[in-house]
Order: sequence, then structure tokens, then C-alpha cells
Amino acid sequence: MTVEEHEDKVIVSLDSDPSTSVTILKYGATVVSWKLRGKEQLWVSSAAKLDGSKPVRGGIPLVFPNFGKTKDESHATAALPQHGFARNSTWEFLGQTTQSPLTVQFALSPDEANSDIYKLWGDGTNDFTLIYSIGLSDTLHTQIEVENTGKQAFDFHWLFHTYFKVEDIEDIIVNNLTEEKCYDQLLQSWYTEKAPMVNFNEEFDRIYKDIPEEKVLQIIDKGYVLQNLRRSGLPDAVVWNPWIKKSEGMADFEPKSGYLNMLCVECGNVTDFVKLEPGKAWTGSQTFQVGGEILVQSNIFA
Ligand code: BG6
Repeated sequence: MTVEEHEDKVIVSLDSDPSTSVTILKYGATVVSWKLRGKEQLWVSSAAKLDGSKPVRGGIPLVFPNFGKTKDESHATAALPQHGFARNSTWEFLGQTTQSPLTVQFALSPDEANSDIYKLWGDGTNDFTLIYSIGLSDTLHTQIEVENTGKQAFDFHWLFHTYFKVEDIEDIIVNNLTEEKCYDQLLQSWYTEKAPMVNFNEEFDRIYKDIPEEKVLQIIDKGYVLQNLRRSGLPDAVVWNPWIKKSEGMADFEPKSGYLNMLCVECGNVTDFVKLEPGKAWTGSQTFQVGGEILVQSNIFA
């Protein structure tokens, strides 16, 4: 088992197959590469900033304590920028914790958090510890534990903002979202997803809410299962592709045709805030597995 710590990143690879690896930037504890048997599974923009000057456009940025921009002006997260501060903070590398699966951990607390942003959260005194575990085998397992180490309760959202690499977005479908409630961020309205399989031919930005945990979200490319997403404690999923116009407006999104090669399927808890009392902890995790059978777990004939 190999865990290499560099100044700015940690590279983990399997002894049994060094071409299976995961690279995590300390900035944002952002996974910027996951290779399975030599094949990259994640999309990262060629213009992504990897120097800590802004959140990484690609890989798995971490969203905490707010998803998007909070609209309720009286909420403690209202002054925070879109997607919070976890992705803009340099995390502490704690080291390797287990051999099988090979797991490494990172931590974030107010001491490491980006102070300019952190102080905008409530009265700037929320005390917390985030422990992020990344486990590599023939799957990629990521788990977050949020602990309230302070004296007052706080509310938060959590999201793994994963950018998957795809060959051609127009060949991709996402399975097992049929009949789930969703908030369409483009239409700004709630409805029930009726498509038997979700597909992509324009900008797409939907938050699926309270998806039963037994449902495996599958990204399918022309009948081949690219990814199975299994979740624990993460009821919501954001599905996003910026398409042409929106990616043109993002300076760090390159090449401009890159929207054809990426799809975000982001597991989290983002429609309602989690309220965490002092001394309490909350955990959410997800596992990505490549390949296997198509599982039809929704009533696609409804
Ligand atoms: C997605 C949101 O999760 O993140 C989109 O649903 C948003 O609305 C996207 O545009 C990217 O956000 P950012 O802050 O990384 O540009």
C-alpha cells in the first residue's frame, strides 16, 4: 500500500495495482483524480486552479456548511458565499487509518478554515470538526463526519460535488431517479421526475430530494454502467451539467467543449439543513463502483 504525502497533495495507490489511485489536494481536501486500473473516472477542467486561489473546477469539491446561496436572510449561513468554505480551506492531513480498504483521513476545524469566509457563518464562533475519510479498493468510498465541538447548535448542508468524466454527455442516462421529487433550479419549481431515465441535451440543474437509500444511482453510457453511486445518510442528489452558455461564463471551465465530457451527480443533504446540537456528530458516506448490471429500481412505466 502506498500513501505519498507531498506539500500540497496526497497520492494513494494500491500495491496490488498501482494504476488504481486517488489524489487528494490538501486545498479543499479535493479529490482531483481517481484512476481505476489506469482509467481516470473524474473530470477536472484544464483551467482549474490547483494552487489554492479558488475552489477546484472538477474532481470532488466538498460543500459545507451551505449549498448554493442561502435565500433566507435571517439564516446563519446567509452571509456565506455559494457552497460555503470547506472547498476553499486547506485541510489537515491526518494520515492513513486502515489497510483494507486503504483509507486516509483529513480534518477541518475553525483553526484551518479559510478565516475570511468562516467568520461570515453566524456570529463567527461555530465550533466544529470535520473528519473526511477516503477509502480506495476497487471502489472509492468517501465519508464525512461532522461534529459539533462547540456550545451552540448549528445548521449545515453537506454535499460531495462530484464531477464524473464521460465520453459524450449526449449518450449518458442517469437511472433510478424516476418518481423522485425534484427542485429544478432553472425553472425554480418543484415537481416529480417523470422521465424513465434522465438524459441530457441542454443545461440541467436539479436537486432530487429524499431518494430512498436502497436506490443506486447509476450513470449509464450506451448500456454500459459507468458508475454505481451508493449512499448512506445522504438523501439528496444534485444532477448538473452547465451546457454551452453557462460553461462559457465560467473562466475556470476549459476546454469550452468540456461540458460534453462531464456530469455532476452530487450526493448530499441539501434540501433541508441538518441541525447539530453541541457534542453531537453526523455522518454521511458514498461509494462509487464501476460496471455491473443495470438495476431498475424505479417504476419506469408509471
Ligand atoms: C451545482 C449547482 O451543484 O454547482 C449549480 O446545482 C452550480 O447551480 C454548480 O452552478 C457550480 O457551482 P460553482 O459555485 O462551483 O460554480
